[in-house]
Amino acid sequence: TSSAESSVLASCLAAAGVRNFSLAADPPPVSYTDLLDFSIQNLRFSLPDVPKPVAVILPGSKEQLRDAVLCVRRASLVIRVRSGGHSYEGLSYTIAAAPHRGDPPFAVVDLMNLNRVRVDPAESTAWAESGATLGEIYYSVAESSRSTLAFPAGSCSTIGSGGHISGGGFGFLSRKFGLAADNVIDAVMIDAVGRILDRQSMGEDAFWAIRGGGGGSWGVVYAWKLRLVPVPDRVALLTVDRPGPSRLVAELVDTWQRVGPSLPDEFYLSVFLAGSTRGNATASFTGLFLGPKNSAMSVLSQRFPELRAEESDWAELTWAESAAQLAGLGSTSELTSRVSHGKGFFKAKSDYVRTPIPLYGIIRAVEMLSDEPSAYMILDPYGGAMARIESGALPFPHRAGNLYGIQYQVGWTAQNNSREAAYVAWIRAFYEFMRPFVSKNPRAAYVNYVDLDLGTDEWSGGGLNGGSMDAVHRARTWGEKYFMGNFDRLVRAKTIIDPHNVFNNAQSIPPLPN
Ligand code: FDA
Repeated sequence: TSSAESSVLASCLAAAGVRNFSLAADPPPVSYTDLLDFSIQNLRFSLPDVPKPVAVILPGSKEQLRDAVLCVRRASLVIRVRSGGHSYEGLSYTIAAAPHRGDPPFAVVDLMNLNRVRVDPAESTAWAESGATLGEIYYSVAESSRSTLAFPAGSCSTIGSGGHISGGGFGFLSRKFGLAADNVIDAVMIDAVGRILDRQSMGEDAFWAIRGGGGGSWGVVYAWKLRLVPVPDRVALLTVDRPGPSRLVAELVDTWQRVGPSLPDEFYLSVFLAGSTRGNATASFTGLFLGPKNSAMSVLSQRFPELRAEESDWAELTWAESAAQLAGLGSTSELTSRVSHGKGFFKAKSDYVRTPIPLYGIIRAVEMLSDEPSAYMILDPYGGAMARIESGALPFPHRAGNLYGIQYQVGWTAQNNSREAAYVAWIRAFYEFMRPFVSKNPRAAYVNYVDLDLGTDEWSGGGLNGGSMDAVHRARTWGEKYFMGNFDRLVRAKTIIDPHNVFNNAQSIPPLPN
């Protein structure tokens, strides 16, 4: 029973000196609920019918992290590792069980107290514990380097670097400097038997796999060594909304898809597309230029005059200020807050576009969005450095040939929870509608926008099983969408680093049978 497991876990942790944990009980203690809920970003997975862990454990050091992993295993519990809790499908604190076997008991090892960032401005590197959020990294890097250095990663400040870098990490600097994972030069990981490994001792296959092969498959990354990138004193930030009838909005997006991916590397221009009232929509453009406002304006007026951006649509600020604004914050000091103000109930999916979508397709997509005000689409331009990095350099394969990535989301509030099935059905139908316009064979997806609709593995028995060819065969269906030609190397890396599949989730990479 889970109470037996719970007492084995508690005494193991006590013996190891790990004191910061909270056990489930009936009713659950306040500390347990507070800790579990704190970083649940998608509130769909906070509802009472979602299976809850036996314990939430908060290690405070690398050694405690190792002991937490070993104690969870000693208690025969399934392990879930959580850094920022932003997994779209709640994979860091839920379990996917086979319906006929019931939910196996599990524990969450939460890295929120492992959030130190140590910057070496002279070497342009930093060590970040993987519980550090992107905002905490951005703030430390800017503070320690007097705003001369930055780190390329995603825009939301409360994302954990543990999960984010494990899946790649794309953001406003990626056209210039690549993904977060492209800028990782060393890492410390704890494996299933408690070894503390660095780049050299884990081996190149494992070090390759942890940089983009998806979180939760390999071990627990304790810390990342990051290569920092130079940024100018002042950068230029553009925000402009273009509301209007669907057709006009679609025409602007059509022009963007020919411009955004081929702007100079210093120029990032993305589109947020949502319906407003029936027949009307808004395309919101966000641009970041690594240089002064004047240069940005002159590039844009030559390359994208249809946008009619004016001087007042631009701001000139430091990179850290731009990171705060892009995260929706009022000041750079708020980058260090781990409290997420953007929680909600949502379902998301992703796509890649390799040839421009015909105008009629964009018009129809915008019309469909204008009928569903809870949904939106984000178009992220690729090209630049993203296209120059080889598709096998890291597990993340979406490089040359991709014009842009798309993210679809539908979101709702607690009051509308009874309509969850209708929202999810809507986004699935929209995704089906997009099929002719996006990448094919396989239809590619981004693992950080994890989507269980692409297929899941049935619960395999708490890591007590080795691999099976069947599991590899099943995983290929979604694995090739996320990783394309890199899937087989990931399976080989998994077989080396975690042959007993201790680190697993509904879409983790399975090992080969031994
Ligand atoms: P979480 O803790 O939920 O972990 C995600 C996965 O990684 C889980 O499987 C977990 O077990 C595993 N994991 C976590 N820590 C680990 C560790 N230390 N070692 C090994 N495995 C670990 N993405 C992007 O590329 N660019 C963007 O701009 C954004 N923007 C964005 C905004 C918002 C509001 C959300 C909710 C998400 C994004 N994302 C994104 C997606 C984000 O990158 C993705 O959800 C990350 O996996 C989140 O990492 P966390 O550590 O927060 O998640």
